Amino acid sequence: MDPRVLPGVVLSVCALFSCKMENGIPESGGVIPPLDVGALVAGNRAANCARADVEARVEAWLSAMTLEEKVSEMHGRSLVTVNGFYEAGGNDRLGIPTYRMVDGPRGVRSGNATAFPVGMARGASWDPELERRVGLAIAQEVAAKGGNVLLAPTMNLLRHPGWGRAQETYSEDSFHMGLMALAFVGGAQNHVLASAKHFAVNSIENTRFSVSANLDERTLHEVYLPHFRRVVIEGKVASVMSAYNRVNGAYAAENHELLSNILKRDWGFSGFVESDWILGVRSTVPSVLAGLDMEMPMPNYFGAPLVSAVNAGQVATRVIDEAVRRVLRQKACFELDRPAPVDPGVVESAEHVALAREVAEKSIVLLKNDARTLPLPASVRQIAVLGALADVANLGDRGSSSVTPSSTVTPYGGLRSHYGDDRVLLIPTDQPTSADLDQVARADVAIVVAGLTYLEEGEFIPIQVDGLERGGDRASLELPPAQVELIRSVGARAGQTIVVLEAGSAVVVEPWIDSVQALVMAWYPGMQGGTAIANVLSGRVNPSGKLPVSFARSMDQLPPWDITSDEVSYGYLHGYRLLDAQAEDPRFPFGFGLGYSRFQLGRLKLDRRVAGAADRVRLSVDVYNRGSRQGTEVVQVYASAPGSRFERAPRELRAFRRVELEAGAVRTVELELSVADLAVYEPDARTFYVEPLEYVLHVGTSARDLTLSARLSVK
Ligand code: BGC
Repeated sequence: MDPRVLPGVVLSVCALFSCKMENGIPESGGVIPPLDVGALVAGNRAANCARADVEARVEAWLSAMTLEEKVSEMHGRSLVTVNGFYEAGGNDRLGIPTYRMVDGPRGVRSGNATAFPVGMARGASWDPELERRVGLAIAQEVAAKGGNVLLAPTMNLLRHPGWGRAQETYSEDSFHMGLMALAFVGGAQNHVLASAKHFAVNSIENTRFSVSANLDERTLHEVYLPHFRRVVIEGKVASVMSAYNRVNGAYAAENHELLSNILKRDWGFSGFVESDWILGVRSTVPSVLAGLDMEMPMPNYFGAPLVSAVNAGQVATRVIDEAVRRVLRQKACFELDRPAPVDPGVVESAEHVALAREVAEKSIVLLKNDARTLPLPASVRQIAVLGALADVANLGDRGSSSVTPSSTVTPYGGLRSHYGDDRVLLIPTDQPTSADLDQVARADVAIVVAGLTYLEEGEFIPIQVDGLERGGDRASLELPPAQVELIRSVGARAGQTIVVLEAGSAVVVEPWIDSVQALVMAWYPGMQGGTAIANVLSGRVNPSGKLPVSFARSMDQLPPWDITSDEVSYGYLHGYRLLDAQAEDPRFPFGFGLGYSRFQLGRLKLDRRVAGAADRVRLSVDVYNRGSRQGTEVVQVYASAPGSRFERAPRELRAFRRVELEAGAVRTVELELSVADLAVYEPDARTFYVEPLEYVLHVGTSARDLTLSARLSVK
């Protein structure tokens, strides 16, 4: 049924049976309770390590160790991996296990493994429950291969979409990131230790070994740290990886304020801090005194030089003991309560591959859909698929987050299996001939697969080795010129043009967006990406992803982007917070994404009392699927603080909930938010402070579509 007809139908049904309508929204058919945050971290083994028997085991080991043995727990063994794992510590004499660490954020970087969509794609799902399952699955594969530490999640805030490793992280928003990373860690630590990285303020790639991110304390504590704080306090993450860069002048691994004051003292972190690889450590004494517990992947500064520093009286034995306790604690905990061995059959199991597909489907964002170009009509006869990327396994960066699945479905592969050989014509080039364009003109629809690869963006590794080329940061957010030309020429010839974009974060689409009827953001969609793309384009799946990063119209709308200087100032505002503050109109706002249904929100209610949680408020809002098919919406709550005496963002995300509704259904969606999340950081008191104000909570479906609001008075 045409969705525009539905409200009329419902109205007449209501007239007959006297149900309550409000703004055209029928009465709710039931309640969807708030996200169960506790369930995200269920089974987290590291949460159960603060125990007397664990401490006793640690003390027994420690008291039996020589200085050299202690120091050998404080570094990796070699630059070279053993069976794909970086090894650290371990002591046969005392029966202390070795850490076997492996990347990374989108799957296991050892042998073949399930390649999930990248972190930014998963961020676009706005689905923490799904992200927990991803964390669980990746960690199971790590354990099945014999590892015990997963070097993930990457959870650095995306200050600028040009960051080379944008794809590895989840978001430009700290709250959104915190929940997604918490879910990942909560799942992963059912099987292995996770490692939150890179601590902290690591978001420029080309200068990552030297740049100092300079920022004031409010910006640090309110913008760049809250997500780390959450995975430490609520996620009990077992290890934290220090970053390469400097923060306010001091290298992250020598940063006493970050490692000792904030992470260990203020947040009560009881795990260990390991360095980022090789250039992540620059010194012996300053690093160990700052709070670095482990040098990876080998002992340049923490082997013999550290033993000498202790013997020379430059480092007290208690400093070593404290670091070693941290390293041993998780080993003792896992030793005493050994996880059941994981069957190697989980690696690329049908279940994990299906999960990779489900995640890809839920992370694809439909950005433009003029005149309902999508879904493709069932009657479509001929589809032309163009672009050099159309039939390429484009999984993302080939740096440390690289994953090698045994097979990958490309966009063309997915479309061909969906529609059959005869209906899909492949033109695998960015430079079609005029004969190609004639074929395009004869097809019903053209799909251009465009975007980036590991060559244009990715981790920056300063050695040029064949096959190891790296993209680093993107100086420009536009597509390569040949692709712009391709899209325009196809747009001029085809009856309908759909662009499928692959990239790790935002792309500036202005040069060509008006030449196409539909645009789908597929990110780097993992080994099942092609199937997911075909399912979304054909309508088998109703797209539900929402942008976790604003798509600006041009770089002028974004913070200054300096990828050459060694001193960079990080301001308080970036992303949608900056766009809102400057009243700039982005091309596609944060939180935005279309679907094949239409939703309407109404009947917002605010309830200050949440049983058993003094600091939480509950919101409820009715969500109505006006469309003719089942669909998904993400309800988003942004807070503003009018009249605040501090510089604040106009609106900040403070709660969200992804909900699935049948056609015509109305549900009352409940969300909770913490009053503490409205706080500002007071540097002098070293604490967060909730200003007494009348806050406004804006509710809607993107940072720029907030149709409802409620006032929350905090005395
Ligand atoms: C990356 C880390 C990674 C490590 C080990 C470093 O270059 O920055 O994210 O975990 O290598 O591969």
